[in-house]
Parts: sequence; C-alpha cells; structure tokens
Amino acid sequence: MNPNRRTFLRQLASVSAALASASWLASIGYSQTTRSVARAVINRARIRADLDRHILGSFVEHLGRCVYGGVYDPGSKLADASGFRKDVIAEVKELGVPVIRYPGGNFISGYHWLDSVGPKKDRPTVLDRAWNSIETNQFGTNEFMDWCKLAGAEPLLGFNFGTEPAEMAAALVEYCNIEKGTKWSELRRQHGYEKPHNVKYWCMGNEMDGWWQIGHMTARDYGRKAADSARQIRVIDPNAKLIACGSSTPELPTYLEWDREVLEECYDVVDGISLHRYFGNTPPTSGNSSARFLAMNLDMERQIHEISAVCDYVQGLKKTQKQLWLSFDEWNVWYRARSGDAVDGQRTFAPHLLEEVYNLEDALLVGGFLNSLMRQSDRVKVACLAQLVNVIAPLVTNETGVLRQTTYYPYSWALKYARGQVLDLSVTSETYPIKPDGLQADLAWGGDVPFIDVTATSDQQNNQVCVFMLNRDLEAERELVLDWRDVTPSRVLACETLTGPDLKAINTFASPTKVAPRPLDTPKVGATMTFKLPARSYTVAQIAM
Ligand code: AHR
Repeated sequence: MNPNRRTFLRQLASVSAALASASWLASIGYSQTTRSVARAVINRARIRADLDRHILGSFVEHLGRCVYGGVYDPGSKLADASGFRKDVIAEVKELGVPVIRYPGGNFISGYHWLDSVGPKKDRPTVLDRAWNSIETNQFGTNEFMDWCKLAGAEPLLGFNFGTEPAEMAAALVEYCNIEKGTKWSELRRQHGYEKPHNVKYWCMGNEMDGWWQIGHMTARDYGRKAADSARQIRVIDPNAKLIACGSSTPELPTYLEWDREVLEECYDVVDGISLHRYFGNTPPTSGNSSARFLAMNLDMERQIHEISAVCDYVQGLKKTQKQLWLSFDEWNVWYRARSGDAVDGQRTFAPHLLEEVYNLEDALLVGGFLNSLMRQSDRVKVACLAQLVNVIAPLVTNETGVLRQTTYYPYSWALKYARGQVLDLSVTSETYPIKPDGLQADLAWGGDVPFIDVTATSDQQNNQVCVFMLNRDLEAERELVLDWRDVTPSRVLACETLTGPDLKAINTFASPTKVAPRPLDTPKVGATMTFKLPARSYTVAQIAM
C-alpha cells in the first residue's frame, strides 16, 4: 500500500473516535444541554434530503423458512393457487414495503438462477452450501416477480459472484429486462413471461469480503469482476442501477480498505456501494447494557459516514463529478439465533434458522436505526431491513397465521408516515455517558449520548410533518418541546407510542400483543408543543399544518 493511502486510512479510522464528540453530534444536528427538557427546532424550509422510499426496503433470502414456509407454502391452507401465503402477502401489502432484496444473502453465492426457472418438474433439488439446507428451486426469479406484484413491492435482485462468471450475471439481466429476440429473453418468454420484468436495482454479489462467503475473493479481484460485469450489463440495460459489494461489517480487518480498492477498480461503472451491519446486546458489543445498546443507531450512522468518506476519496482520485450513493441493504438486530443449530440447516428443507425472537428494546433500537437512515438519506438511497419473514424478521408464520414481532411496529410507522423530505432539525438534549471498556474495537467509544433521538419528515403535498422520537432514558419520562419556526401546526392527526415496563418483553402466538403501540396523549397544538415521552419508548406523531 502506498504510504499516502495508509495515512488516509488511519485518518479515516480516527473518525470513530470523533463519534462521541460534540462535533459528531453537531453534524447530525445535536447539541448537549444540562436541562432535562429536550428541544427540537423545526424549520420546514431546512431540508436534509428528499426521502427516497427505497431506504425502507426489506429482504427475502432462500434461508430457513423465509421463502419456503414464509412466502411460499403450497401445502398450506393459507396459500393461493400459486402456493403463496395469502396472509403474508396481506401483511406485506399493508406494510407497504417499497423494495425487496432477493434471493440472498450468503445463499446467492452458490445459487444458479437457471435452476429455478422453467417448468417446476424439471428444476433440480440441490444442496445449498451457505446454510447446509435442501433447496428445491420450486420458487425462483419468476415466482418472486409474481409475488412482488401481489405484495406491491419492487424487486432488488442479486447476482451470484461466488460460483458464477460475469456472463451469468449479464444473462440474468438479459433474461429479465430484454423484451425479445435474444437467447435469454426468448427463454423467459418460453417460460411463460412474455413481457420483461424490468428490474432496476441489482446487487453485484453479497459480502464478498467475508471469509464465510462462497467464492470469497480479494478486493481487487472483486472490483475487476464487478467492473467487467457492469460493462456487459450496461450494454443490455443502460439504466440498470448497479450496487457494488462494500464491506459487510466494520469488524473485518479489511474494513474501508476493501471499499477503497473495490471502488478504485469499478467506481466509474457502478452507481452505489453496499454496507451491512447487525447489532446485539451482548458482553462484547454493549457490555449487556441496554443504555449502550440503544445508542447503536449512532454506530450505524458512523459507518455511513466512513463509507461515504471512502467513496468521496475515490471520487477525488478519479477526478469525476459522479458521486456514489449507499445501499444499506442488510441491517437489523441479530445476536441470539446466530450460531450452532440456528445457522446450520443440517441438510434439511426449510429448517428453522435465524428465528430471532425480538423484544421491546430491539424494537426501540430498530426505531433508532430508522431515524438514522432517514437522517442520512442524503447519501443512503437504498436500505433493507434484514429480513422480512421468519428469518430475523418482523413477521413470523406458523400453520395458522402470522405474528407481528415487536420490531414490526417502528418499521410499519416509517412505512406509513415517512414521506416527502427529511428535515434538518436542531436538537438539544441532555445526555448520558457510555464507556468503551471491554467492548470490541468497532464499538469501543466512550462519550455522551443524547437521551432523545428525533427525526422528522415533511410532506409538502399533504401539508403534514411526521416526527419520530426515541426516548433512550430507561427510567424516566422525558419532555420534548417541538419548536416550530416557519409554520404553526393546526392538528395532531395521529400519535402512538411503543413502550412497556419490561425491555425484554416479546410477542408470541399465544400472547401476540404484549408489545404493541398505544395512543399517546398529545400536546395542545401551537408554535411550541411539549410531548411527554414515556421511559423506554419510540413514538410517532403525524401533525397537520
Ligand atoms: O441475513 C442473514 C445473513 O447475514 C445473510 O445471508 C448474509 O448476507 C449476512 O451475513
């Protein structure tokens, strides 16, 4: 590595130390106060970014019971004539998930898309080596397109960069997006799909920096393969949005350097770069402290800043006007069902893998993640809650129906209420200290975290503002004053909160609404409005001007 780059990377790494500092919080509109009442100044003219609803996407992988038993279950009395679970479609439709990534994840790196198209009786049953599971290929690209239409979602498809050459990625684009008259488009027509699927967004492989990934390769090799594929794909579909595979976690020693090297190879021909992250409340990540855990959306935000910095560095090197956007195409809480039998299908079909049970504190942090993604939506243009059903998911099925896990609620609020533009708020909040001692390197920063995390969207068309408020105080209710500057609200249209006495409370089929939203008393409308946010809560308010 050339010494200048070494220095650059060292400097970039020191961004992490700045996370806890006032300057970091200032960059997202926060300042500290010793007063217990927090304040958010709302100026509708101060806009951070247009909200791209693609940041509210989700993810369906051939993994465990996500596809088989979740999305597709022809043996179920709840399935339609195509074998799709009607109750799951109804939930996804009601949520209004705008975009869904498919078919992996780790699965994709050993998957042959050609095995899962055409007559179902001719499709091979294979061993998926990512999850040691049996894959029947009865659900594939075309079924996913049909399912997306029913669910009202746009597909975000991935390429197998592990065991397939660039040619097969190009072939998939041709199969999906060319109308007719070529080898692969005619094959699609033979398969009963006369019209092209017109898929816009594509992930160029999955976590290729990870030692666990089938076909794991060096950043240079990956970057060259991505560039080669992108050039071929642009001939087939010049409008394709191509997402290069970025670092899959800050825990890897190649973090940031992977992104730099990849982008040095393919910057000019891709549109975005991916990042992934899963968080947990464990001894090495939070010291089992819920207060530290609830600050982890700030770690997500730091990661966004770091990857953006690498993109901009390569932009500078290339002397180009083109700026890349980020695709945070896997994010969630995931730490319980993460080893042993929970990740090993033991050569069975639709095994119970990654069936994480979410509690109240997980839901509060998911609310925080959504606040962060909205706040960073000037740079993040795609993001996917991983995953949608049964596998680390807000929705869980059994033979009788669907359960909404705790994390369903903050996600459903963002989907329902976040519209228009993300506002640039000035927030003052009392803070609490967190300590780095004993935590793994990427989370070992100490500093002060605001009790109140707030973000807001403004829908000019309907003349409404939605405010999303996380109270990280585990003990006490906190007041948040909304201080309206260039408009005065006329009415609170909706206000709900998710809270409870027990951070570890969960929903089950026997007790499905143990953690569920309840209405929150709304303040009198006016130029200032004081919300009383319960301890341990995430709250949404929809306010008409
Ligand atoms: O979402 C579960 C897995 O996590 C995905 O398959 C992989 O991409 C990530 O490591």
